[in-house]
Amino acid sequence: MRITVLGMGYVGAVAAAGLARDGHQVLGIDVDPAKVERYRRAEVPFYEPGLDELVREGVASGRLQFALPAEVEPGRLGDLVFVAVGTPSRASGAADLSQVEAAVAWVAEQHRKVKAVAAGPSASAGRDPAGSDGLPEGGPVVVMKSTVPPGTGRRLRHRYLETAGIAYVSNPEFLREGSAVHDWFHPDRVVVGSDSPSAAQQVARLFQHYGAPVVVTDTATAEMIKYGANAFLATKISFINELANMCDRVGADVEEVARGIGLDPRIGSQFLRAGLGYGGSCFPKDVAALDHLARVYDYPFELLRAVIAVNARQRLLPLYALREALGSLAGVRVAVLGLAFKPKTDDVREAPALDLIPLLVEEGAEVRAADPQAVERARPLLPASVHLTPSALEALEGAQAVVLATEWDEFVRLDWEEAARRMAEPRLVFDGRNALDPERMMALGFRYRGVGRGR
Ligand code: UGA
Repeated sequence: MRITVLGMGYVGAVAAAGLARDGHQVLGIDVDPAKVERYRRAEVPFYEPGLDELVREGVASGRLQFALPAEVEPGRLGDLVFVAVGTPSRASGAADLSQVEAAVAWVAEQHRKVKAVAAGPSASAGRDPAGSDGLPEGGPVVVMKSTVPPGTGRRLRHRYLETAGIAYVSNPEFLREGSAVHDWFHPDRVVVGSDSPSAAQQVARLFQHYGAPVVVTDTATAEMIKYGANAFLATKISFINELANMCDRVGADVEEVARGIGLDPRIGSQFLRAGLGYGGSCFPKDVAALDHLARVYDYPFELLRAVIAVNARQRLLPLYALREALGSLAGVRVAVLGLAFKPKTDDVREAPALDLIPLLVEEGAEVRAADPQAVERARPLLPASVHLTPSALEALEGAQAVVLATEWDEFVRLDWEEAARRMAEPRLVFDGRNALDPERMMALGFRYRGVGRGR
């Protein structure tokens, strides 16, 4: 098939390269000339394990090409147009759909131009003939990968697509950053929502060979599945974090609690890691957008508000613990290990460390922070006084306290004996991801604090 993907962020780039690997002819489009230039040289402008190879392979095969919107001939869009542009949060929590609207309007405009040429000068700009399901046949299908609030697809269809003869399919994406390439080729389900059964089938067939269950449904339901999944996972995290905070108060160990409850298959063991809470480009934004949607519908989604509140507090736990242990933080040297919101990515969006560090600096601490991938992305977002380095041992030099904010392998397997030598009294470790062995750390002379480990 000939496929176009709009937006070369991590979802769009993985989709484009994944579809090219599957044998489709793919055109990746982005509005950023520098990005397009790099992709053409088969370079990925962000860190995502395995994506470089996949893009190189696609470019070398000739099946994966890149362009700016202005360079695209109207007839080049192909059978399916995936939309994978950003839907950032507005201050109100609502999803900002301006990029999605612009992308969909652009597709409609391109298709109109094709039809005008095909019909010749005397043709009127009418609808395409309707198919058996009452929707247009023959036009391209817009496949929405961007996360948009329930109701958006139908609105976009009425506003831009119906009259242009273009069908709309919601096909939410469940990729995780850091393992996006693996997730693309091993989905645990494919969700396809449309008011056009034929368009839904066309998209479902694309993923058939992955062998995952396919949920074919209507547009709004598919959109709600995406929000439901992310909101549920975020709830699981905030729930275990609340249990962790209780564990600290009663002297129980949340790691054992998570194991004990997670063995019940109705609960499941995943997403029960207590710590500084969730960050990234998805959970905070999607939970906020669902909460905003609830308010728009005058429905008080109380549970969701609690999930957000717990998560906001959780990332500040190290500040409270350091204050409690050291009194004033003025002049105290604190090392923060981890700037990315999770390991194996250079993405710092909504990363706990980025909220924590400015507060530590405000209280007078001298902060040194390390991350193997995210230093460059974090630098403009942090106070200039913060010393940034890819090396954990360099960050730890002379520090009285260290906060593990992201559980990178490099940090968990650090030579902690050497770290103890380089650090200063009282060698306080706040393990914000419960990734270190408390007994071993204490044997090495550290004062250890985890999240919900009763110490
Ligand atoms: C998440 C979902 O897992 C994907 O299925 C979804 O496609 C994606 O959002 C999206 O909507 O695009 P991602 O944000 O890449 O993926 O990261 P996750 O691995 O899910 O982690 C999210 C956050 O939760 C991280 O900050 C992580 O540290 C935190 N987390 C995760 C915990 O604090 N505890 C856990 O037990 C699990």
